Amino acid sequence: MPNATNTVTTPPWLAEMMFTDNQKKLLQLLGDGHFHSGTHLAQILHISRSAVWKHLQSFAELGIEVHAINGKGYRLSRPITLLSANAITSRLDSPTKHLIAKLEIFDQLDSTNTYLMNHARKSNASGHICLAEYQSSGKGRRGRTWVSPFAGNIYLSILWRFQLGLSALGGLSLVVGVAVVRALKKLGISGVGLKWPNDIYWQDKKLGGILIEVIGESEGPCSAVIGLGLNVYLPLNTTASIQQPWIDLEQILGEIPIDRNQLTATLLNELIPILELFSTENLPSYLEEWRSYDCMLNKAVTFHLPKQTLKGVVKGINQDGLLLLTTEQGEIRTFASGELSFSPFSHETIA
Ligand code: BTN
Repeated sequence: MPNATNTVTTPPWLAEMMFTDNQKKLLQLLGDGHFHSGTHLAQILHISRSAVWKHLQSFAELGIEVHAINGKGYRLSRPITLLSANAITSRLDSPTKHLIAKLEIFDQLDSTNTYLMNHARKSNASGHICLAEYQSSGKGRRGRTWVSPFAGNIYLSILWRFQLGLSALGGLSLVVGVAVVRALKKLGISGVGLKWPNDIYWQDKKLGGILIEVIGESEGPCSAVIGLGLNVYLPLNTTASIQQPWIDLEQILGEIPIDRNQLTATLLNELIPILELFSTENLPSYLEEWRSYDCMLNKAVTFHLPKQTLKGVVKGINQDGLLLLTTEQGEIRTFASGELSFSPFSHETIA
């Protein structure tokens, strides 16, 4: 099994869909964040200076900010390390690696979830991983758009086949949330919480979200596409449409650099074994841990249902992972779906 210091041979299930070779080379050259003259870049790539300029314009369309200064050349607004299949797989635990059938990395895609749902409709594949540097139609819950600028964040989807039926997948999103918190803790990121059913939070701000889409029979088997969006670096010029408080790992960690390849591998090392175990262990094994990450417990909230909005206080989750809410009328109600938001002016905890 190769490790980080060995030369990594490419397993047959790896596929990377990249820019053209020249675009990729250009991005790698500029990735250091230093200035490079147009002449120098053109010489290295054996292309004209105007071809360099055209490539740089195509980067701008993906939200990659390029600074051009007379006499100095071009520089990215911040250094970029692209996702790399080898850098990820060299950090995967051996059991995780064996459970992965295919890992694909795209420079751009409409949505990693949509891509894998199309696969799920055509085959019974399991263990198919898809990452993208940029999503043009990233999907959030409740039909929202997931803002997905280039090469700053994690957009990860996993296609998994369960012998269980759809009806048995109820607790899956909670279990996935547990795996994500475990991974972040392993990387030294503490204070991460979960907001029912599956938002990743840090100090009352959204750090990430999980979108699970399913296809199959109610009695089984079925397939699920588990999509995770995790904010690593969200440029301010891309965040205008985000309608809730958000945070990214760069703000949490300050100067400490974040290696997205390491982050992805750590996420997979937690997610894949938990998906494998889910069919046998199911939700009860993870309930207590989920509760320990619950960042909404005893908080005053507004609860949004398709046709109704309630005010209440969160009382955790029951044995089936359903939300418990004390309503304004004082009754405890149970919900299988819906969305929580903090009640305005009431971030305080109510015992
Ligand atoms: C949410 O609304 O909180 C869920 C967001 C899920 C976003 C991720 S990014 C990777 C995957 N592909 C998508 O189109 N959506 C999910």
